[in-house]
Order: sequence, then C-alpha cells, then structure tokens
Amino acid sequence: MRVLVTGAAGFIGSHLADRLAADGHEVMGVDDFSSGGNRPEHAQMHRLDVADPALVAFAEHRRPEVICHLAAQVSVRKSVADPLRDAQVNVLGMVNALEAARVSSARKVVFASSCAVYGVPAELPVPADAALRPASPYAASKACAETYLGMYRTLYGIDHTILTLANVYGPRQSPEGEAGVISIFSDALLTGKPTRLYGDGRNTRDYVYVHDVVDAFSRACGDLGGGRRFDIGTGMQTTDRDLHTLVAEVAGAPDEPAFAPPRPGDLPAMAVDPGPARTGLGWSPRTSLREGLKATVEWARRA
Ligand SMILES: NC(=O)c1ccc[n+]([C@@H]2O[C@H](COP(=O)([O-])OP(=O)(O)OC[C@H]3O[C@@H](n4cnc5c(N)ncnc54)[C@H](O)[C@@H]3O)[C@@H](O)[C@H]2O)c1
Repeated sequence: MRVLVTGAAGFIGSHLADRLAADGHEVMGVDDFSSGGNRPEHAQMHRLDVADPALVAFAEHRRPEVICHLAAQVSVRKSVADPLRDAQVNVLGMVNALEAARVSSARKVVFASSCAVYGVPAELPVPADAALRPASPYAASKACAETYLGMYRTLYGIDHTILTLANVYGPRQSPEGEAGVISIFSDALLTGKPTRLYGDGRNTRDYVYVHDVVDAFSRACGDLGGGRRFDIGTGMQTTDRDLHTLVAEVAGAPDEPAFAPPRPGDLPAMAVDPGPARTGLGWSPRTSLREGLKATVEWARRA
C-alpha cells in the first residue's frame, strides 16, 4: 500500500512512518520541519506545509491510497496565544489533506485527533459517546477537523478513521514541548536539573506508549474502523506525583520535585476508554507504563 504520512518528522509521525515501512508499505512523508526533526529511515521525506495547495498537487502526482494526517500545531498554549495560526495549520491543513485525498482518489484518511476535544470530562474514563466540549483553540481545531472528515465521507465517499489520542509518550518525544512531560522529567532527572509539578501533584493523565499508538494507526489504515472514531489510551489514570516517582526510579535519580502553582486551563484529570478500539480495530495497549518508561529513559540517556 502507498501511504502518505503528514507530520512524518514528528514524534508520532516518524514512528508511524518507520512502522508502515517495516510492514512493507511504500511511505511518503510530508513535514515543514517546524517542530519535528526526525528522518524516518525508509520514507521519502518532502518539505511541505500541510496548508499549502502544493500538497494537493503532490498527492495528485503520487497517488497515495491512504493519508495518515498527523501534521499539526500541537501546543495548547500557543493555540491560546495565536488561535489564527492554530486554525491555519489544524483546520486549513485538514481541509487541504482532504482535498489531497479527493484529487488522488485516496481510499481513506486516518486522523490524529486529541482527547482534548472532550474538555473537562464529566466521567472517567471518558465514555466513547461523550460530547465534544473543546476548551482551547487547539481542541476546537481538532473537533472542527473531525467534522470535515465526516462531511468529506458523505460528500465524496472518502473513508476515514479518527484516533483520539490520550497522552502519548516514548522515544523521540521532544522535552521542549508542553505535552511530553515524560521526556521533560527524563531529560531533567538524567542531567540533574530540577523538576516541577504544577498544583498539588494529583492531576492525572492517561499515558499510552508510542508503539501502541502507531499500531492503532496501522490497523486503521486497512478496512477496519471506517467512518468511526476511537479513543486511544489505556483507561488508566496516573497522577503527576506518581509519574515523577516512577521516572525517578527508572532514571536512578532522587524523587524530589518542586511544586509550582497550578497553570490556568490545565485539566484536573483525563483517561479514555480503549474498549471500542478493542472491538472495532482489534487494538489494545500492550506496553505497561514501567516498560514504556524504561525504553523512554534509555533513549533519553543515549540522546
Ligand atoms: N503527543 C501527544 O500526546 C498527542 C496527543 C494527542 C494528539 N496528538 C496529535 O498527534 C499528532 C502528532 O503529534 P506529535 O506529538 O508527534 O507532535 P510533533 O510536534 O512531534 O509532530 C507534529 C509534526 O507536524 C509538523 N508540522 C507542524 N506544522 C506543520 C505544517 N504547517 N505543515 C507540515 N508539517 C507541520 C511538525 O514539524 C512536526 O514534525 C498531532 O496531530 C497532535 O495534535 C498528539
């Protein structure tokens, strides 16, 4: 199968490109290298802005069967500071990726959405049929992109699967961003820098390992899960404080974080239900948090 991966220089996109190539697919990667700097080994990489109409011409020429759309403005804080730029990349980028799918007669688009679309959840793990209540421009742009996918399916018959990702972690995640708390802790604890928890340390997140996430994408590239969205997480909550203890243990560093005031807009808790992905995609998370942390800390040690 010929697959176009947008955001292929990014954390998740580069792992996905590697996995698809290892499975024998022909992989074309597109990225503007604005935040990602990875070069997947067996993908042909092309420097392109996803919102640039040149993407449509590129796809028309290269005729991918499936487009995995991961390129995005990924920072919630940047989206609040500059909602227009966020929408340019995340909304216009989605429309452009769908136009690319239309002109190239692609069979399917697989989209990386975010559990941020649920806002502050009323129930945990978030039930699969929960209403979308975006609480940031980033979450709103992801919810909007999801709507476009449904509309293109109705209008043009282009199939899609939406994967609503919990907190993804693993090797290659940048410690510079705001999402990669495990990379941030690993980097700091291995180099003796101070670490900080915002609030009382009892906020929770659902951490899912990147190899499990790309497995979900790989399954969704086939015929499974057409026209559906699946939450990709473990269903388990880990508090910030427990996470710090675990990373410190694995890194062999002291477990002594500083505490800072809570950041406005931070969600108190999050976990999503992997049940529907189990039945719809045959997917389940296989990597325990401890195993995933060991691999991530090992990578940070070598990086
Ligand atoms: N990491 C997570 O925990 C997480 C959680 C939920 C959803 N997601 C989604 O998964 C996808 C991948 O995220 P990631 O963690 O790998 O982030 P990342 O920043 O490592 O990857 C995003 C990639 O998109 C590229 N990009 C940004 N703007 C672009 C543009 N205009 N044109 C072309 N390329 C552009 C960046 O250079 C980068 O390589 C994103 O859509 C993100 O919203 C990630």
